[in-house]
Amino acid sequence: MSQLFGVALRGTGSCLPARVVPNDEFTDTLNLDTSDEWIRSRTGIRERRFAGLGETSSSLGTVAARRALESAGLTPDELDLVICATVTPDLMSPATACLIQAALGCRHIPAFDLSAACSGFLFALSVAAQYIRTGTARHALVVGAEVLSRAIDFTDRNSCILFGDGAGAVVLSATPVLTAGLRSIRLYSDGTRQDLIQVPSKVTPNPAPGAPLQPRLEFLRIVGREVFRFAVTRMIELIEQAETDCREMGLAGIDVLIPHQVNQRIIDAAIESCGFPAEKVMVNLDRYGNTSAASVPIALDEALRTGRGKPGDTVLLVAFGGGLTWSSAILTL
Ligand code: UT7
Repeated sequence: MSQLFGVALRGTGSCLPARVVPNDEFTDTLNLDTSDEWIRSRTGIRERRFAGLGETSSSLGTVAARRALESAGLTPDELDLVICATVTPDLMSPATACLIQAALGCRHIPAFDLSAACSGFLFALSVAAQYIRTGTARHALVVGAEVLSRAIDFTDRNSCILFGDGAGAVVLSATPVLTAGLRSIRLYSDGTRQDLIQVPSKVTPNPAPGAPLQPRLEFLRIVGREVFRFAVTRMIELIEQAETDCREMGLAGIDVLIPHQVNQRIIDAAIESCGFPAEKVMVNLDRYGNTSAASVPIALDEALRTGRGKPGDTVLLVAFGGGLTWSSAILTL
C-alpha cells in the first residue's frame, strides 16, 4: 500500500464585511415587527455583518484565503487543491472556488464548490483530508463563504434576523505523523427532511410538459421550530459520539468546542444535556449571526487569533444545517 499522511491544520483566516447591522436596524429601517430584546433573548444575536456593494462570497473568500495562506507561511502557487463550501455562490458556474483560485493566482489545480449548507465547511474539510491522506495533495485550501443577506426575505421576521455574511478559510498540509492534526470526522445527511431549510437558486426544476409551473422559491426559507429541535438533538448526538472518538481521553480531552453559530439557546441546551463545560465553548454569534458554511471556520480562526485555542489543543467542531446535514470533526491544533 502506498504511504498515508496525517492532515495538519497549517493556517486559518477569516473576512467579515465592514458593515455592521445591529438588531435595531430591523425595526428602525425595515419596520419589522420584532425587537432587539426578542432577538437577543431568543437567539443571542446582537448584530451581524452584511456584504457591501461589490462584495460576494468569492471576494470575502479570497481575503479569508489570503489570510489563511499568510498564517500558513505558504504562497498560492504551493496549493494543490481549492474547495469552497457555499450555498450563496457568486454564480452557479463557474464555481466560487475557481474565482478564488484565479484571484489568488494559483496553478491549474482542481478547484470546486461543495454544497452542504451550514455543514458545508466540515464536508469540504473531509474531502480535502482524503486528498491529503492519500498523498494526492500536499497543501489544500478549504473556504466557507456566504452572502446570505442576498438570499433572505427582509419581510420574514422568523428568518431574516438570524443570518450574516462572511468567510473563513483553512490551509491543510500533509504531515508524516498520521495521528497529528485531524483525528476524526463524521458526516451525515437526511434528504427526506429537505423542506426544513431551503435556499433558492436561479435554476428551478423543469416542470413536466403540461404541468403547472411550480411556485418559485425566491428567498431562503426555514421551519425554525423544527430546525431548532433537529439541531439540539443532533448536536447532543455528535458530542456523545465525540466522547467515543476521543478514546481514552474522553470529552475531558476537548479544550475547545466550536459549534455552528446558529442560536445560543441551541448551543446551551445541547451542552447542558451533555454536561459539557460552557467555558470551553467558542461563541461569536452575538457579533456575526449565522453565516452558514462560514460560521465554523470564522470561529476557528477567531479562537486561534484570540488565544482561545493554542497549538497542541484539541478542538471539536460541530455543524448542522440544510439537507438536512450534520457533522463533526476532532482536530489537534
Ligand atoms: O442553521 C440552520 C438555519 N437556522 C435555523 O433554522 C434556526 C433554528 N431555529 C431557531 O433558531 C428558532 O426556532 C428561531 C429563532 C427561528 C425562533 O425562535 P423560537 O423560540 O423557536 O420561536 P417560535 O418559532 O416558537 O415563535 C415564537 C413566537 C411566534 O409568535 P406566536 O405564534 O407565539 O404569536 C413567532 O411568530 O415568536 C414570534 N417570532 C418573533 N417575534 C419577534 C418569530 N420571530 C420573531 C421575531 N421577533 N424576529
